[in-house]
Formats: sequence, C-alpha cells, structure tokens
Amino acid sequence: EQQNNWDGYPICKFQGFWLPFWLFHPLLCFQRNFKARDTDIMLSSMPKSGTTWMKALLFVIANRNQFPIDQSPLLVNSSHKLVKSLECDYYMEHDNPDLETLPQPRVLSTHLPHQALASSLIDSKCKIVYICRNPLDQFISEQHFFLKNRLWPNATVCPLDESFGMYCDGVHAFGPFCDHLLGYWNASLENPDRVLFLKYEDLKRDSLSEIKKIAEFVGLPFSEEEEKAGLVGEISKLCSFDKLKDLEVNKKGVHYGTITNNSFYRKGGVGDWVNHLTPEMADRMKKLLEAKLTGSGLMLDI
Ligand code: A3P
Repeated sequence: EQQNNWDGYPICKFQGFWLPFWLFHPLLCFQRNFKARDTDIMLSSMPKSGTTWMKALLFVIANRNQFPIDQSPLLVNSSHKLVKSLECDYYMEHDNPDLETLPQPRVLSTHLPHQALASSLIDSKCKIVYICRNPLDQFISEQHFFLKNRLWPNATVCPLDESFGMYCDGVHAFGPFCDHLLGYWNASLENPDRVLFLKYEDLKRDSLSEIKKIAEFVGLPFSEEEEKAGLVGEISKLCSFDKLKDLEVNKKGVHYGTITNNSFYRKGGVGDWVNHLTPEMADRMKKLLEAKLTGSGLMLDI
C-alpha cells in the first residue's frame, strides 16, 4: 500500500505502519543486523514529540562522569549528532554499520514503532525510553516543521484540515500514532524494567523529578553528593529549550541537507495547538483517543 505523507513524500504501509519509502531498506538492515547490548539506552519517539530534548538529556545523564556540565559536548554539538538515529543515520548510511566501537553505554534513537524493533533489541535487557506528547501539539509541531523543511523535492504541504484528517486516520510517517503510543505503553506495562513511558508535558511541568526518574531507570541514579551539588538542576538548565535554542550550533548549524538545526527549536511549549486548530478538530481528536485508548490505562493530557 502506498500513499503520500501530508507533506508530499511517499510512504508505504509495511509491517503494520506507514514508513517513509527511503527507510524501507534501512529498516530491514536494522532488523537483520542490529546487535543490542544489555547496556544500550534506546530512545523511542514519534517525530516532534520531544526527541531533540530527550537526546540531550540522555546524552548528558549517560556521560556526566566524563564531561563536567560546563564542558559538555552538547554546548557545541547538536543533540542529533551526539545521539544518532538507527534508521535515519546509522542504517541509512550503511547496511551493517560498526556500532561496536561506540562509547558505552551506547545511546541510540529510533522513530520506529515497538513492533518493528529488531528482535535482538527485544531479547536484550537494554533500556527503552519512550517519550510521547499531546498529539495535537505534536501534529502542529510537525506541520510547522514540514512548512519550513522540504524532505522531498518539490513537496507541498497539504492544507491544515486535510493533513489533520490524514493524521487522525493514521496515515502519516511512523503512524498510526495511536498504535505507536499503545505499542510502547503496553510494553512498559508488561516490562516496566525495560520500557519507561514518559510524557513531554510531565517533563515540562516537573523536569527535576523526571530527570531523576530517567537516570534511575537507565541504571545511572544520582548519588547523594550529585544531588547535594545541584547536578540535576544543572542538567535540567543545560537541556532546557531556552539554553539549547540559543547555542551557536543550534542557531546556525545544519542538520542535514537544507534542514537547519534551528528547525528543531520552535516554541517548545505545551498547548500551542489552540492557536491553530478549531474546537471541532480538538473534539475529533478527543473522541478518537477515547475510542482507541479506553481500557489501556493510558491517559493523554489534551
Ligand atoms: P514545537 O514545534 O511545539 O516548538 P522533536 O525533537 O521530536 O523533533 O520535537 C520538536 C519539538 O520539541 C518542537 O516543538 C521543539 O520546539 C521542541 N523542543 C526542542 N527542544 C526542546 C527542549 N529542550 N525543551 C522543550 N521542548 C523542546
């Protein structure tokens, strides 16, 4: 099955989800060749749900003994360079990339749904951190991203009501988003030691508690001395939207091709959807979530 994503690039339905067609080969290579380690830290997310932020946090948490905060590589590198995507970077560049030489613990990321993860990853004891976001904010964030960045030559973005319809119907890259959420949600219920399910909104509301929760989950809890020295607060500040957005590398740097690093920093808030979507659209989403999530125990802040 083939369709165009709402910004015009072809997506194919494969293994139960919509995949940008250029990721077909990297996906198969990842599934066939990836060898997980028990020490791996894997970030999973839908695009535009806080990936850039979580990459920064996980990198700093995992490498805090190697780099003091004021000398963090995050100050001069985009978080997408420090934590690369399996399907969009490593397996896009090579069928069988050498991931053995990466520093331990390896921090890796993916937008793939849980059912598409390599079996080696499922069978290992590695830690999966999933971040989700209010789907209305995520949709608006993605719409802006597509308007700014053409991922496909001559692509044109559908009008908002049309793209919102496609999004609700689940016809969008890595979607249906409800299945993406539920895949990781159910995995986190079945295996709470392996999958941590986080919400962008909680991270915004109470960064310190969430950062401590993440560090504990990945097996790198903060010591009493670190807490007393205020390290959690320093990490929260370093990885905050305002701090990262204003770094030279994120103001001027290039992510890939014509996509600039600054396109990953727009508003960085909660609830911007009200400025773009009608109450009827929000109502449609609420009903959809009710229908799909009832009984799962998953509640989203919308
Ligand atoms: P907005 O477009 O709503 O501002 P992703 O990283 O998954 O591509 O998601 C991008 C979204 O996360 C954008 O949302 C961006 O502004 C926001 N974001 C990026 N860095 C952030 C940070 N450090 N803290 C909070 N939000 C951040």
